[in-house]
Amino acid sequence: MTTPSRRVRVLFDEIAIARRNEELAGEIAASRPEELLVVAVLKGSFMFAADLLRALHRSGLSPQVEFVHLSSYRTGTVSTGQVEILRDVQSEVRGRDVLLVDDILESGRTLVFAKDLLMARGAKRVMTAVLLEKPGRRAVTIDADFVGFQCPDAFVVGYGMDAAHAYRQLPFVGLVDFDNQEPDLFGGT
Ligand code: IMP
Ligand code: MG
Repeated sequence: MTTPSRRVRVLFDEIAIARRNEELAGEIAASRPEELLVVAVLKGSFMFAADLLRALHRSGLSPQVEFVHLSSYRTGTVSTGQVEILRDVQSEVRGRDVLLVDDILESGRTLVFAKDLLMARGAKRVMTAVLLEKPGRRAVTIDADFVGFQCPDAFVVGYGMDAAHAYRQLPFVGLVDFDNQEPDLFGGT
């Protein structure tokens, strides 16, 4: 296994992300959720979810936390449309307010799939929070209730998001130079 050494250009830095997370938590708290269950969509949202949860605590909420691991199949960096559950939530969602947390809203298929799943299981309300929204690539109709940043329609990494399993550890969101990279090495979770 090789360690990627490509340069990553910072798009959203740590300070901007931290500030925006506090604002998002304030907006979420203002929606007055009851018995809130936060469902983080793995893997890409793990860092955003961890920071957002602490910001929600500071905003006075006491959410419970769950994880669902979804995989959206991709050809290169383009979504093909199928979504698979790799790990399901374990808590009862019936009658609860749920906040789905994901890293990026792109085609919308991942979020629509997860939202439909939780609604079908009887959630009272399913709200959605995404760190990034790429506006130009929507394939299905969905708007996130809470959006961190509008993102250019380019492949981004860091702050939980990967390219070929690398870069998730970066504390910022950045753009990576993909010249000469095998396209089907990229993950989509
Ligand atoms: P959607 O189903 O097309 O909305 O895809 C959203 C999912 O694709 C996200 O949850 C990410 O896991 C992944 N994804 C989309 N764009 C990027 C990107 O630029 N970098 C890393 N992962 C991405
Ligand atoms: Mg994802």
